[in-house]
Amino acid sequence: MTMSEKTNHLFWDGCDVVELAKTYGTPLYVFSESKIEQACQELQTNFIKKYERVRVAYASKAFNVLAMLKLVEKEGLCLDVVSGGELYTAIVAGFEPEKIEFNGNNKSVAEIEEALDYGVGRFIIDSIQELDVIRAICHKKNKIAKVLFRITPEITVETHRYISTGQKDSKFGIPLNEEVLFPLIKRAIDAQEIDFYGIHFHIGSQLSDNHTHLAAAKVALNLVKQIKERFDYDVKELNYGGGFGVRYTKEDTRQPYAYFLDPLMEETIAFCTAHQLYRPTIVIEPGRSIVAEAGITLHTIGSIKTLPDIRTYASIDGGMTDNIRPGLYQAQYEVTIANKQDEQPCELVTISGKVCESTDILVKDASLPNIATGDILVTFTTGAYGYSMASNYNKIPIPAVVFVKEGQAEVVVKRQTYQQIIQNEVIPNHLLKEERK
Ligand code: LLP
Repeated sequence: MTMSEKTNHLFWDGCDVVELAKTYGTPLYVFSESKIEQACQELQTNFIKKYERVRVAYASKAFNVLAMLKLVEKEGLCLDVVSGGELYTAIVAGFEPEKIEFNGNNKSVAEIEEALDYGVGRFIIDSIQELDVIRAICHKKNKIAKVLFRITPEITVETHRYISTGQKDSKFGIPLNEEVLFPLIKRAIDAQEIDFYGIHFHIGSQLSDNHTHLAAAKVALNLVKQIKERFDYDVKELNYGGGFGVRYTKEDTRQPYAYFLDPLMEETIAFCTAHQLYRPTIVIEPGRSIVAEAGITLHTIGSIKTLPDIRTYASIDGGMTDNIRPGLYQAQYEVTIANKQDEQPCELVTISGKVCESTDILVKDASLPNIATGDILVTFTTGAYGYSMASNYNKIPIPAVVFVKEGQAEVVVKRQTYQQIIQNEVIPNHLLKEERK
């Protein structure tokens, strides 16, 4: 679909956003393929091609649909999945299993079996118990699992506490207790069913300071040294997780990947050289920073309610069902009116969703031009954890997803229908009987 330029309309990767809303309806997730490619290429230039023995595994929880997985594979990335469903989608997308890493703090036996059968490249073990579960399944299937242990590096990060994961009190990872960790590693080294690769951490999400990654890397590198000293074993791989922050509002800064990765690599290389250690392969798992800023969401403004001396509420045809982040993390967003790009902001409007929840407020006090019912509201930076955390609360269908590139648009996920929402529901026979008690 190619569209003509209209000066007062917003364009996204060459597409007229107002036309997209007309053609595909709202709410609508729109992703710029070019922006996703740019992020992948930044990783290629500043990490993959710059350093030897490094990998990037896109954390697919940020946005895991067939088209996205195909795109990141085309861009030369590996993949991180955390559930049987994410793994299944990756396999259907044709992702090479060896390039898939399986994270998650409670993998089921069925999920581990599936992953082994597909031949996933790595298991990131999150608990002491999990090693034995994987061993037993490998034994039964006569397979060998390549594993890393996710540790809790005891690093506190500056982000919303709901997306902080590396602190001591965390449901993720194996605690840094020498008496527990080293015997566990030794068992992995010795186990026939296990190929011990190394150590993994992920300290949190939406981080804009590189110090916490560096501090966690030092913890991991120290483990590499101790594993060499104690067991004469060369750790093959370290996974430094994701968490690189993006720009949601003007107050946020998006640091280039090099800001995080260069000091991490320098520290890693220097440490290994100083201690005469084999320098492990370094893997990172960015999710948000690859896809967040490529995505926008379109809504149509419906009822507008002005409460004198309080505020104006403008309701949209979606809300926390397509973006739960404001309700869950008090996340802030920037919005604009797609069909009024030539108008100056003149009023403060609170954008509310249509869901029956008081926390269903997309943006409080957005500065917008004179708004009217029917205007197309655009929310920026919704590409990560928007679609992937969408729900059917209030039986609202999950919106469609469109990929745009240089003026062309294509649906990559169709809008859910009411029929699809109830397709797994059953009325039991005894309730079908007509007579009433
Ligand atoms: N690796 C692991 C093991 C993770 O747990 C995560 C995110 C990532 C990588 C990717 O982190 P990223 O680069 O995207 O920051 N729903 C929340 C974010 C939860 C992140 C969970 N883990 C949000 O909307 O902010």
